[in-house]
Amino acid sequence: MSETTTLTVDLGDRSYPIYIGQNLLNQADILKRHIPGKNALIVSNETVAPLYLNKVESLLSGIRFESVILPDGEQYKNLDVLNTIFDALLTHRMDRNTTIIALGGGVVGDMAGFAAACYQRGVHLIQIPTTLLSQVDSSVGGKTGVNHPLGKNMIGAFYQPLAVIADTSTLNTLDDRQLSAGLAEVIKYGLIKDADFFDWIDRNMDALLQRDPEALAYAIKVSCQTKANVVAADERESGQRALLNLGHTFGHAIETGMGYGEWLHGEAVGAGMCMAAKMSQLLGWIDQTQVDKTITIMQHAKLPTTAPDAITEQQFLDLMSVDKKVLDGVLRLVLLKRIGDAVVTKDYTREQLAASIRNSYST
Ligand code: NAD
Ligand code: GLY
Repeated sequence: MSETTTLTVDLGDRSYPIYIGQNLLNQADILKRHIPGKNALIVSNETVAPLYLNKVESLLSGIRFESVILPDGEQYKNLDVLNTIFDALLTHRMDRNTTIIALGGGVVGDMAGFAAACYQRGVHLIQIPTTLLSQVDSSVGGKTGVNHPLGKNMIGAFYQPLAVIADTSTLNTLDDRQLSAGLAEVIKYGLIKDADFFDWIDRNMDALLQRDPEALAYAIKVSCQTKANVVAADERESGQRALLNLGHTFGHAIETGMGYGEWLHGEAVGAGMCMAAKMSQLLGWIDQTQVDKTITIMQHAKLPTTAPDAITEQQFLDLMSVDKKVLDGVLRLVLLKRIGDAVVTKDYTREQLAASIRNSYST
């Protein structure tokens, strides 16, 4: 059996481990040591449950467990579907010492996490992420929530899990489009903080796309370590955690504007990071070479690099004005000073933002 890496998100008495390795869902002791009580509710969806629910259930001997299966898709990440988790918790008389186990990608993780934050004012949570995107990003750091028709992830809570168990073997059943979507968030860590990692991703893109286990394990490890460091320093995003949103203000506008589920989150973030690079160039912060490098790596990862024609410049501006980085009516953007160094800024004009959006369409 290959080696398991354990990282820590250092949050004092709320610190927790991230386990990364192959076949972790064959090891009962890892999951069970993090379940404090006698009750558990597994939250999964109709795609992931047939693949992995039995495996997780078989790890829970001695625990009373039930499961709830959500419909699959970003369009179901809403308050109505969230309520089905509360229905299950109440129907099965789950008490305050219950552990909610999120088994799936970022949609399941965000919804199960939010349910854990709210049910009886907070029950235990364990994340078992099964997509690349959720293994490198969404399962770590405690952002939970659902979408609103007017804005992505607008209803939610910060709520940390007791553990994250990333079984990299689950990535074998993921389709290629979802793998690419996950790579967008991996590239993000290189762009915002780590030029060497960006170069490593560039050199190893073929291995990553071919799911070479060593390349994937390294990418997940570095990504989780970067995220763990940022979250430990700024759990509730009063400062540097906002850097993790590079490309997201543009990307969330694409997801909301196109209709949830039309573009994958990672695809929207990929195009959004190219838009952020162009905006950084327009402000004179980076040159054409750095913009080209950003677009090329996204192309290699098989991600979109331009804004969808279906969303007009005005729609972009309107949708972006609902971003969570709007403070006192001013939208702060995450932009690049260079590859490996991002900043949060309000030093731009509306005209510059509009011009940059105009320059981001393919035609
Ligand atoms: P997802 O949860 O929709 O999963 C993608 C698809 O893959 C789904 O169809 C899912 O059923 C399927 N799937 C999952 N695991 C599988 C497996 N092992 N084999 C086969 N199919 C599998 O999407 P995602 O990309 O994982 O997550 C995107 C969501 O995460 C968005 O809602 C986004 O807002 C959120 N997000 C949250 C954070 C955070 O910090 N909380 C960070 C980034 C993204
Ligand atoms: N994905 C952004 C964050 O966790 O802060």
